[in-house]
Amino acid sequence: MNLNDIPKEELVKQVVECRKCRLCEGRKRGVPGEGYWQAGVMFIGEAPGKEEDIQGRPFVGAAGKLLTELIESIGMKREDVFITNVVKCRPPENRDPLPDEIEACWPYLEAQVKMIKPALIVTLGRHSMAKFLPGVTISQVHGQPKVANGIWQQRQVYLPLFHPAVALYDPRKKEVLFEDFKKIPLILKKLNVPS
Ligand code: URA
Ligand code: SF4
Repeated sequence: MNLNDIPKEELVKQVVECRKCRLCEGRKRGVPGEGYWQAGVMFIGEAPGKEEDIQGRPFVGAAGKLLTELIESIGMKREDVFITNVVKCRPPENRDPLPDEIEACWPYLEAQVKMIKPALIVTLGRHSMAKFLPGVTISQVHGQPKVANGIWQQRQVYLPLFHPAVALYDPRKKEVLFEDFKKIPLILKKLNVPS
C-alpha cells in the first residue's frame, strides 16, 4: 500500500472502507480521525469504541467528552488539533487491539503524521505510547515530554498521557490528566507553535 502523496480525502476513504485486518469484520466503519490537518498537536488514542463506530468520529463517547474538556481546559478547541487512534476500527467488545492489528493499521497513522507534521504528538494510553516510545511504563513517564526520532523529521516531541477512559473511573487519574495537560501549551510555546 503506497499512501505517500495521496490527498487526505483519499486516505480518509481508504480507512472508512479498509479490510486489511480482522477488525473490519465487526465494525460499522473505519474511523479515520478528525481535526485540523495542519495542527501543531496530534492526539492519538487506542481504538474507536461503540459510539465512535456508530458516528464514524473519534472520541465522541464518554472518554471523548472528557478529552474535549481537557482540550478546552488549556484554551484550545477540538478543531485546533487532530484526533485519531492507533487502530481505526472498533475491536469486538472493546478488547485491546492485538499487535498484528496495530501493525496492519500503522501505515494510515504514519501517513497522517507525515501529512499533518505535528510538532507534538500526545499519546493517550499504553497502546499508543508503546508504538512511539517503546519500553517505557506509563505510570513512570506520563506527563514527561520526550524528544525522539520522529516520522516526518529527525526529532519530534512526544507527550505520553493516561487514557481519558481510565480517568473516568479514577478521580486521582483524572486530576493527574488535567495537570499533565497543562504541559501542552508550555511545550508548544517552547517549540514556537501557536496554541
Ligand atoms: N477511546 C479511544 O481510544 N479512542 C476513541 O476514539 C474513543 C475512545
Ligand atoms: Fe484497516 Fe486499520 Fe480497520 Fe484493520 S483496523 S481494517 S487495518 S482500518
